[in-house]
Amino acid sequence: MHPLIPGLLFVCSILLILFRPKQKVSCAPGPPSIPIIGNIFRVNLTEGAWKVFTRMKAQYGDIIFFHGLGTNILVLNSLKAVNDLLEKNGTIYSHRPVFTVAGELMGLDQSLALIPYGKEWREHRKLANIALSSVSVQKYRTVQEDLSALLIRDILINPGDFFKHVRLSAARVVMSVTYGFSVDTDDKYITHAEKTMEIVTTATVPGAFLCDFLPFMKHLPKWVPFMKEAAHGKFMIDTLVDRPFEQVKSELVSGTAVDSLARDLFSLGGSNVEFDHRIKWILGTMYGAGGEATYATVLTFIMAMALHTEKQKKAQEEIDLVVGTERVPTIADLPNLPYVKAVIKETMRWNPAFPLGVARRSSEGYVYEGHFIPKGTIVMPNIWAIASEPNSKYDPREFIPERFMDSLVSTIDPAAYAFGFGRRYCPGRFLADNSVSIMISTILAAFDIFPPANQNLKPNFSLNMISYPKPFDCRIVPRSENASRLIIQRAAHCQENSKI
Ligand code: HEM
Repeated sequence: MHPLIPGLLFVCSILLILFRPKQKVSCAPGPPSIPIIGNIFRVNLTEGAWKVFTRMKAQYGDIIFFHGLGTNILVLNSLKAVNDLLEKNGTIYSHRPVFTVAGELMGLDQSLALIPYGKEWREHRKLANIALSSVSVQKYRTVQEDLSALLIRDILINPGDFFKHVRLSAARVVMSVTYGFSVDTDDKYITHAEKTMEIVTTATVPGAFLCDFLPFMKHLPKWVPFMKEAAHGKFMIDTLVDRPFEQVKSELVSGTAVDSLARDLFSLGGSNVEFDHRIKWILGTMYGAGGEATYATVLTFIMAMALHTEKQKKAQEEIDLVVGTERVPTIADLPNLPYVKAVIKETMRWNPAFPLGVARRSSEGYVYEGHFIPKGTIVMPNIWAIASEPNSKYDPREFIPERFMDSLVSTIDPAAYAFGFGRRYCPGRFLADNSVSIMISTILAAFDIFPPANQNLKPNFSLNMISYPKPFDCRIVPRSENASRLIIQRAAHCQENSKI
């Protein structure tokens, strides 16, 4: 070899490294911005940010970048982008945004849903996963079936109040399962929880308070309106978490506590202040997080049935065939009810309870498909966009359960998005699945749901983090005298035999 060759090779390699064509890195595309304010205020929130982001997908693609006032937001508009970032890069994308008002001032940053990703979150999550595993939740099936029977009885007695009954029933399930308490109609815990969750779901929308963008505002005096709001929120949240915890603890001490997540969790560790605090917040979070999404899903189902009576009839025919008309369905019947299952999936797809998921925050800078995502970016999985993914056969905005039974044209199963993603996916999904399924199949077995007499029913949903149907009218009538008789018998039986 010529003595100069190694030297030449070395020089060439250095030159190649220095002058290699650079991969172009830019921020992800987004609407045009103006200095300081950026493009963050370009989203018209009056119709639901998720719908606006979904429309923008045609122009900007699967990831859209917004920035301004020192905040960066990345919207993920496809399951691929969500999986690439939130699932495959869980170490970077499993943090929650810092909510100065909801988190720091109201104290919600102690809850499993908002705790920063790290050691303490892992401790909470480990306990929640044990208590809510697919096996652990089986023991609550009877409670869930009993409470569905009570829901149906309440609707039978007063169908006009179905909103109230569904909400109460969803709360009763979580209350009974979480703390093992029996629940009366005007229970103090439930009324308090409803008011608190209204505060929580409003305060945890990113940007709900200017103080979330400008954290120094948290030092403003207590009389400033948003500071007063924060103090009230803190009082409500502390009460929600403390009161039932103290009650269940004294029941455990006196030996009167029944089967519940609380009892399971206490059995996992010793009694010390740190463990008690952790359990208190895990239970409070389950209680807060569990009821609302279940309630939103069941109400969405009722609205969909009033709008699509032909789909309802098909599901009822399946129940009559498989379950018969001499008993109400149970959770064990569900595997044999494929069309009812398709109706449930379609309900969760048509209007997902969390249309924009629950936001994350990136813990370091990252380059994705040539776009730089800065550290601290708030990342929003647009579940609505994923659920509305068009395909060659079915209109995404129509309510068509058959799309989930079509072997030729596939539709993404809501199980892949409705309960979130990666390390922070919903730990309550098995319990929720059972609650939603039994409530829906019992309602189908018992009632015919029609649009209101004036036929005036348009889908209209709230714009909070959890999206519910706004109050609407429909006619809910028992399918037959036999169905009414069965409901009354079943409800009486479960009241006699349980603590409910
Ligand atoms: C239909 C009912 C439900 C739906 C659609 C739902 C959906 C979700 C979603 C989308 C998330 C965010 C996950 C993420 O960040 O990717 C979540 C988180 C969570 N859910 Fe659910 N959920 C439901 C019911 C429940 C129930 C019944 C419980 C407990 C009893 C529960 C407990 C939680 C908790 C504790 C978190 C926070 C997890 C964390 O940050 O690590 N959920 N849920």
